[in-house]
Amino acid sequence: MTDSDDQGYIDSEKRLAAEAAAELVEAGMTVGLGTGSTVAYLLGALARRKLDITCVATSPATFDTARSLGLDVREFTGIDHLDVTIDGADQVDPAGWLVKGGGGAHTREKIVAAAAERYVVIVSSNKLVDALAAPVPLELLAFGHDATLRALGDARVSDKPSSPDNGVLADYFGPIGDPGELASRLSAIPGVVEHGLFAPAMVSDILVGQGSRVHRRCPGD
Ligand code: 5RP
Repeated sequence: MTDSDDQGYIDSEKRLAAEAAAELVEAGMTVGLGTGSTVAYLLGALARRKLDITCVATSPATFDTARSLGLDVREFTGIDHLDVTIDGADQVDPAGWLVKGGGGAHTREKIVAAAAERYVVIVSSNKLVDALAAPVPLELLAFGHDATLRALGDARVSDKPSSPDNGVLADYFGPIGDPGELASRLSAIPGVVEHGLFAPAMVSDILVGQGSRVHRRCPGD
């Protein structure tokens, strides 16, 4: 198989997972939209359904694309609860821990995920891993971020531009071990706005495109 065949295969799995997730959305819902190439398939699938829904976006890119497709996307102000949020992930471990933030949007993604009654993750099968691996994306407050990096240890600023909230995007390269323990350690360091570890308890469904089928897992149950 060539690289482009591989990419075609992965893209087709992303599209299948995204289309399955779009079917979970019903008229009248408030919907959180994630960020990334898998979510791009979701936006198209949702727009094709022409449902009367209200959306919020986790990044300017998603906001602009969703609007251009005719979806009703609002600022995340004056809305305190979402029915469902749908987003991609960089890694998914067997317990349902996620690494997110490959697109630099994990802080907004975590807020929008936490606001939703149901959080649906859509991935191609290459995102399934036996154990999470570095890097773990970080968003740091710009103020004093060199001191924050020092406290983190094995971490450095990434080559991505600042977040839409002017945060410095960085990556943690140290060992992950127990993701829950690492998540607590990262959260406890002053200056860390948010890290890209998402706990299984947040996740309602993981829809995995695998070949020509979609498999569903429910880690939060
Ligand atoms: C962005 C993310 C994305 O969901 C993650 O990077 C997956 O991206 P893609 O769907 O393009 O593979 O966390 O911050």
